Amino acid sequence: MTAPTIEILPDKTTLIQYALARSVEIIQQAVADHGYCTLALAGGSTPKPIYEGLAQHDLPWNKLYIFWGDERYVPVDHPDSNAGMAQRAWLDRVSVPSDQVWMTPTTEGDPAQSAQRYEDQLKAAFAPLQPLAEAGFPRFDLVWLGMGDDGHTASLFPHTAALAEMNRWVTVGDKDGEPRITFTLPLINHSRQVMVVAAGASKQSALSQVFAAEAEDAAYPIRLVQPTGQLTWLLDAEAVGDLNLPGARRVNRFD
Ligand code: 6PG
Repeated sequence: MTAPTIEILPDKTTLIQYALARSVEIIQQAVADHGYCTLALAGGSTPKPIYEGLAQHDLPWNKLYIFWGDERYVPVDHPDSNAGMAQRAWLDRVSVPSDQVWMTPTTEGDPAQSAQRYEDQLKAAFAPLQPLAEAGFPRFDLVWLGMGDDGHTASLFPHTAALAEMNRWVTVGDKDGEPRITFTLPLINHSRQVMVVAAGASKQSALSQVFAAEAEDAAYPIRLVQPTGQLTWLLDAEAVGDLNLPGARRVNRFD
């Protein structure tokens, strides 16, 4: 694993602009490098303005393959749907071919069956794109992640069974009894690029544990995100506070 990059932006607006610029670079580089870009979207509130910004860019939309790193177990028209949010903010405004957008199945009435179905769909989607790595996992070009105030990411919540899943690509997450569909840690960790974007003072407590030399991984699941590729943390100053994050770089302005 390459050492993580930690970059701190002065405020949330600049953080979002920077995350957008870096994401555009990664997308363009992936397409230039191997002719396509496979992306896994994060849910929650932070990424929405990034998606809105992507809709304003002129990107090779027919070269993008879109997936979701996790999803609430609700239909896409439900207000909590991560896919619904990304469609309204971005995908409904650009021309990614519909057969290259793989929304998480959430209407089977059985989360385990939906997880298996999504895993089957991912395998079908990746089969023509790339031979599987030796461990049998694909390499996403970019996985966006957020971090909950409790240190969860995707739908990998503290002290849940999903953290122990080392063979599947997709499993069932558990948020206080509420089922979620989520990428597993090995799937995330085989990515070329993982970008964590987190903002606001409410993230500070978890960040202090995530970057602590000693802390319980199962209590702060995002500690287990250790990709073979590049891990980039993009944070605003409020999230960091007075924390001394190892190797962090403050980015005060960028073009
Ligand atoms: C979800 C997300 C989740 C999110 C974090 C941070 O489905 O809610 O995937 O992991 O990224 O909870 O959420 P915010 O961006 O709203 O702080």
